Amino acid sequence: MSNSSNQDWAPQSDSVQGDQRAAYDQMREDCPVAYSEYAHWSVFRHKDVLRVLLDHETFSSHVSRFASVPNGMDPPQHTRYRELINPYFSAEKVAEFEPLCEKIADSLAQSVLCGEQVELMEAFAQPFALQVQCAFMGWPLSMQGTLLSWVQRNNQAIFKQDRALLAELAAEFEAIIAGLIAERRQAKVGPDCDVTGALMHEEIDGRLLNNAEIASILRNWTVGEVGTIAASVGIIAHFFATNPEWQARLRESPDLLWKANDEILRIHGPLVGNRRRNTCPVEIGGRQIPAGERISVNWIAANRDPQVFPQPDQFSLERNPADNLLYGAGVHVCPGAPLSRMELVVVARALLRSTDAIRLLEGQPPVLAGFPASGYARLPLALG
Ligand code: HEM
Repeated sequence: MSNSSNQDWAPQSDSVQGDQRAAYDQMREDCPVAYSEYAHWSVFRHKDVLRVLLDHETFSSHVSRFASVPNGMDPPQHTRYRELINPYFSAEKVAEFEPLCEKIADSLAQSVLCGEQVELMEAFAQPFALQVQCAFMGWPLSMQGTLLSWVQRNNQAIFKQDRALLAELAAEFEAIIAGLIAERRQAKVGPDCDVTGALMHEEIDGRLLNNAEIASILRNWTVGEVGTIAASVGIIAHFFATNPEWQARLRESPDLLWKANDEILRIHGPLVGNRRRNTCPVEIGGRQIPAGERISVNWIAANRDPQVFPQPDQFSLERNPADNLLYGAGVHVCPGAPLSRMELVVVARALLRSTDAIRLLEGQPPVLAGFPASGYARLPLALG
């Protein structure tokens, strides 16, 4: 796994990109804290990832010169923004959104899952993620194409580590949001109009949020929602297709989906990693890391660590949910988790309700996605 003497592995190589899960599993066992020019330090073991997450003083989230609200911030600044953001994902708000989410899932399922076969990612998973994102934000459905194109170009820029392009894309997103804000300002909307309108009325440190902050918050939510939700839908559908007994059991008892989805996504994580920077020299996994280095926590490998999840590939509803790092841990734990869990239960229910059977399509194997995406790039399924 090494491409030069001072590198432990090559994260962008075809062998890693061809099957990220297998490659990260192997790294966790062979070289649990690994250096590469591409990713700098990568941390793969559950215990090491947890240590990074729980010590935000040593492992800062302030990793870029561009402001990123709230994921690029540290306490106490981070705490003030999280207090502002968290209520948008309260149990009440999520319950309020559920009927619309159900309508989107059912109508998509009825229109695209009616044939004998489907390529699930393009026909169902991506449109679902885009439509729920627009509906949650109060954006017109006509924005789907713009959002998809932005997320795809952003992923390509992340893979190529093209900083200039990433800055351009951030500016492009800010301009899209500025347009939405200008429309709402002109219409003199109140905070109850939609999520974007509500953010326009939020105050921080005694002043209103500015356009750049609103755009950054919404960009964080867009990346969370569109990429990860689409990947999760594919991973859940693939689980149904390859585990017929569980598919049958979940058809009979859809209430189990709340627990089952988290376990399915533990086995195959929809999100690869997140970054930190160490504020002082540290020793982790037997490696000495000088201060100021970039460190990535690898969610996929940590959630498949046999030290915490014996027989990690085995689906089990008996595992301790607190060990599952699907939505992170520590101060940056995903604020969108309640929304995400509801959306994924609703969409999984719609998938099962609108089909009699879901199987892999013979002769057309699924194609895994490459970094920074996870899950499937293509998932051809036979529907009964
Ligand atoms: C299956 C879907 C999702 C997964 C697996 C996921 C996972 C995560 C994880 C692991 C983190 C922690 C990052 C870190 O420690 O650096 C995180 C943070 C975050 N997520 Fe999610 N997420 C999902 C969906 C969403 C959704 C739907 C939203 C909002 C609409 C969202 C918004 C955020 C935000 C704003 C943060 C940053 C929180 C902070 O820095 O304090 N996520 N997510």
